[in-house]
Amino acid sequence: MKALVLSGGSGTRLRPFSYSMPKQLIPVANTPVLVHVLRNIEELGVKEIGVVVGDRGAEIEAAIGDGSRFGARVTYLRQDAPRGLADTVAVARDFLGDDDFVMYLGDIMLPDGIADAAAEFTARRPAAQVLVHKVADPRAFGVVELGPDGEVQRLVEKPEHPRSDLALCGVYFFTSAVHEAVATIAPSPRGELEITDAVQWLLTHGADVRAHRYAGYWKDTGRVEDVLECNRHLLDRAARSVSGTVDQDSELVGEVVVEPGARIVRSRITGPVIVGAGSLVQDSRLGPYTSVGRDCVVHGSRLEDSIALDGASVTGIDGLRHSLIGRSASVGAVREDSDHLRLVVGDHTQVEVAA
Ligand code: TTP
Repeated sequence: MKALVLSGGSGTRLRPFSYSMPKQLIPVANTPVLVHVLRNIEELGVKEIGVVVGDRGAEIEAAIGDGSRFGARVTYLRQDAPRGLADTVAVARDFLGDDDFVMYLGDIMLPDGIADAAAEFTARRPAAQVLVHKVADPRAFGVVELGPDGEVQRLVEKPEHPRSDLALCGVYFFTSAVHEAVATIAPSPRGELEITDAVQWLLTHGADVRAHRYAGYWKDTGRVEDVLECNRHLLDRAARSVSGTVDQDSELVGEVVVEPGARIVRSRITGPVIVGAGSLVQDSRLGPYTSVGRDCVVHGSRLEDSIALDGASVTGIDGLRHSLIGRSASVGAVREDSDHLRLVVGDHTQVEVAA
């Protein structure tokens, strides 16, 4: 089996981060989403991985390399514009050949892995097997309607009146039968080649299409609040490990990870928290549920339920919550006697200050 990982797209929901980095490289518990994805694929023993990239391919390639760290060979496949999930299968046609493959969106988190689903696919080899998860409000998702025997009867993209609460998770297993479907379907009204249309085409033409009910945790990291929620979930699984230095005036409570070269000075850290390599946390209170990237500075601040990306600094802020701070961004306080705030804020940024 091969793997096709989708790391193109436009990431409009994750602006402003997606202006400067591919959204698949956003870190969750200090590890890019795409690395979590590739680890799940490594677990299946897949040796050939195609990674579809758009115009941010160079950064993806720099982060992932040739795939050897995932026990596989990675081939980068350039999609000239985000023309839809099914279009990526067409882009990868030569790479995939006639092999079975797992198609995996590069921005979703499934920390419990996909080994059971893969085993089920391999045992039965339906033309398509989709991962589905029960959701409270299916209207924002591709929705799958199942028959009595667990067979897929219909797929509907973002239905107004859903007839099922099973949403597509973003992992699909295919045999080479999908290529005819992809070559035949037309773009949807939004101008994309939809993978749901390709799977529906298979169904209409009598192919065996199955659904695997995914029981583990699933999160699409498309929006900032999703990234933060996922970060909380992953940090809950972290175990205490202290490689950096913690001075005598600091206190670590619960599951705290202090990576090599990180320094904790006169601070209280309440886990779960990760402090990345080379970062300094001084005269501050961190946590719970906070990930600080590499080479960050948190000084004289209180930070909770937040993520700071590499090189970020937070100085003199007492009470920052639910925040995502970009690479090398700095957040600081004004002097107490100042009569104004000063902001240098990029496009599509959200800032909330006391009224
Ligand atoms: P989406 O999150 O559905 O789309 P998007 O990246 O355009 O994001 P937004 O809706 O915020 O604008 O894409 C799911 C995954 O598939 C994501 O990792 C990007 C990738 N993708 C491609 O590689 N090529 C494509 O043509 C599309 C539409 C998505």
